Amino acid sequence: MADRAKPRVVSGMRPTGRLHLGHLAGALGKWADLQVDYDCMYFVADWHALTSEFADTSGLTGYAYDNVADWIAAGVDPERSTLFVQSLVPEHAELYLLLQMVVPIPWLERVPTYKEQIDQLSERDLSSIGFLGYPLLQGADVIIYDARYVPVGDDQVPHLELAREVVRRFHQFFGEVFVEPQPLLTHFPRLPGLDNRKMSKSYANTIDMADDAKTVRKKVMRMFTDPKRVRADIPGTVEGNPVFIYHDAFNPDTAQVDDFKVRYRAGSVGDVEVKVALADAINARLDPLRERRAEILARPGRIREILRDGSARARTTARETMERVRDAVGLRYRAGQESAP
Ligand code: TRP
Repeated sequence: MADRAKPRVVSGMRPTGRLHLGHLAGALGKWADLQVDYDCMYFVADWHALTSEFADTSGLTGYAYDNVADWIAAGVDPERSTLFVQSLVPEHAELYLLLQMVVPIPWLERVPTYKEQIDQLSERDLSSIGFLGYPLLQGADVIIYDARYVPVGDDQVPHLELAREVVRRFHQFFGEVFVEPQPLLTHFPRLPGLDNRKMSKSYANTIDMADDAKTVRKKVMRMFTDPKRVRADIPGTVEGNPVFIYHDAFNPDTAQVDDFKVRYRAGSVGDVEVKVALADAINARLDPLRERRAEILARPGRIREILRDGSARARTTARETMERVRDAVGLRYRAGQESAP
């Protein structure tokens, strides 16, 4: 349960699809580890998902539950951490609105992800206020809980820089109310997709956390390797080869991996042998997760209950913060505040 002697960590994930090995090697593995030293709050960023997925919201809640099943499978423990849903704590939106009063629009326009995403997702209409405000909402998500640290990938560091600048500007007008959140950078391997393009569900090149052992093996067998290596007795390239990137990320038997690398470079091991060992390693890693996932899903309504309880707890803290914030801003209507007529 929440332990305030430990510094607070807050992080969120958008429910826009199933989680895959990229999530597990990255944010999710980290989330589980952080529970030892931090008071962790992890949430479903469903409003953030809406900023780009508003045209089709049919998958939203389904992905939310499915993602949380994977969080728990990966070792995020609802007894130790607070798991909640952003939209079930509407105080995030109130804080976001008050922050908007002091944030110049150009601060948002110059956030690197803003223009990048508009270019990359050119088939979407991202001209909304909601999309422009994405990083500001993210700031509200964490400062409302006095988060000291926010585990993020390097692409999200500018969002936290913005959050800190916003906190400072808010303090200039209204006095000290917030903690400035710091990024907790995670240096994890960027996993490529099975086809060596960027891993993305739209390329159908992911291994999903919920894939069964047979599916994992099938996917690994069709993974790209060194395209120049047309026969097993030709020396191959290990660097940038997806099969070896995955071995490094998921095979704990480093002696085996080193041996494969030596033999691969020498042209004395076939792709199939390397891939079978990789599929085995991934399946060994996923087996305990599959068990925990099946356990939690065998209890109907359990995930909904975890999120409802967690959201209620998060909301208690968020409400306290908002009383402080309203006082600071000068919105004082509670009994005993200011002079009622
Ligand atoms: N922007 C994050 C992402 O896409 C998701 C997110 C929303 C988040 N609010 C947050 C992450 C607050 C950390 C803290 O990955």
